[in-house]
Amino acid sequence: MNFDFDTILDRRGTGSLKWDYPARRLNAPEALPMWVADMDFAAPPAVTDALARRLAHGAFGYASFPESVREAVAVWMAGRFGWNIRPEWISIAPGVVPSLYAGIRALTRPGDGVIIQTPVYPPFFSAVEATGRRLVKNPLRFENGRWTMDFGGLERLIDERTRTIVFCSPHNPVGRVWSEEELGRLAEICLERDLSVISDEIHGDLVFRGRRHIPFASLGPEVAQRTITLAAPSKTFNIAGLAASLGIAQNRAHREAFRREFALTGWELPNIFGLTAMEAAYRSGGPWLDALLEYLEAGADQMDRFFADRLTPLRFFKPEGTYLALIDGRGLGLDPAAWNDFLLRKAGVYLNDGAAFGEELTGFSRLNFACPHAVLDEALSRLERALGGIR
Ligand SMILES: Cc1ncc(COP(=O)(O)O)c(C=O)c1O
Repeated sequence: MNFDFDTILDRRGTGSLKWDYPARRLNAPEALPMWVADMDFAAPPAVTDALARRLAHGAFGYASFPESVREAVAVWMAGRFGWNIRPEWISIAPGVVPSLYAGIRALTRPGDGVIIQTPVYPPFFSAVEATGRRLVKNPLRFENGRWTMDFGGLERLIDERTRTIVFCSPHNPVGRVWSEEELGRLAEICLERDLSVISDEIHGDLVFRGRRHIPFASLGPEVAQRTITLAAPSKTFNIAGLAASLGIAQNRAHREAFRREFALTGWELPNIFGLTAMEAAYRSGGPWLDALLEYLEAGADQMDRFFADRLTPLRFFKPEGTYLALIDGRGLGLDPAAWNDFLLRKAGVYLNDGAAFGEELTGFSRLNFACPHAVLDEALSRLERALGGIR
């Protein structure tokens, strides 16, 4: 089947955070927004058709979390990752970020240490701090352009009040799809040292050729017992605005605690459009996703070549998964504020400031390449022109 990723969708005036923010808040209406992690593609036809049918029904009263949605989730996880989960392990949530907060509250007490591996998605920091837990950083290592986990450092950090890690797999923003060996080593440490895990796998569907996403909880029954997995169709199928995500826990006490934390905020009933889209995506979105991954990877390859050939001294790091790539701007010799200013005001592209993910990424930026290839071409030529102006 052929899917269209080339048509440019005009998202201005549609209440899109990605497009509104640079235009309204930064006074840069012409800048290409390549920052927050959503895609400039329409959701799969299977999803838009299902939503249209649901809309045509006309009654939008309170939703339940139907068995058919849980089944669709379980079939997807088994089919894509060989991960066998039971429908009753699955909880619905309004997003992975709220689930990070709920998961941390469920597994730890105020004052406990919670480990994160920096640089990482900014809400990992705020979820630990805002819940009154102690932020314990186990920075990733960066060697020869590749990021890896520091297992020795992790073992040293674990103590009697630091018993949980919030894990990002695949990792945003460094783009690693962790190998079986790396996951196995992390699992060993968690078992030996009795560490519980909140595994944010929102990018799990988005992995490129030659890589395989392995759900952390699928590594074995003891690992599953200590893991709450956070997953969602939102990144994969571009339906983040429909606010429906998943918390999956085999451990009954963990899932009850997780649900209780949501109940304590007063949130209980999901959004019917989110559920409709989730079920359609997981039941019928596979062929679209396979085509999307080819398209995304072709775009990343195109950027990789262009940066190497024409944008030195900037460096582009092709990710193993996700549609987010790091760019190292330090070779230009600008200070970090001037580098950000160069991107937005001189080149006319709006990327995430690397420093928002941790001090390790000062002087880097994160580029979202989930857009038509013609837009990537435009962004690359803008960068080349602006670079010509200062080289
Ligand atoms: C690692 C990670 N977790 C969570 C989210 C957002 O999740 P949600 O929109 O479901 O709150 C993102 C979005 O970029 C992300 O990269």
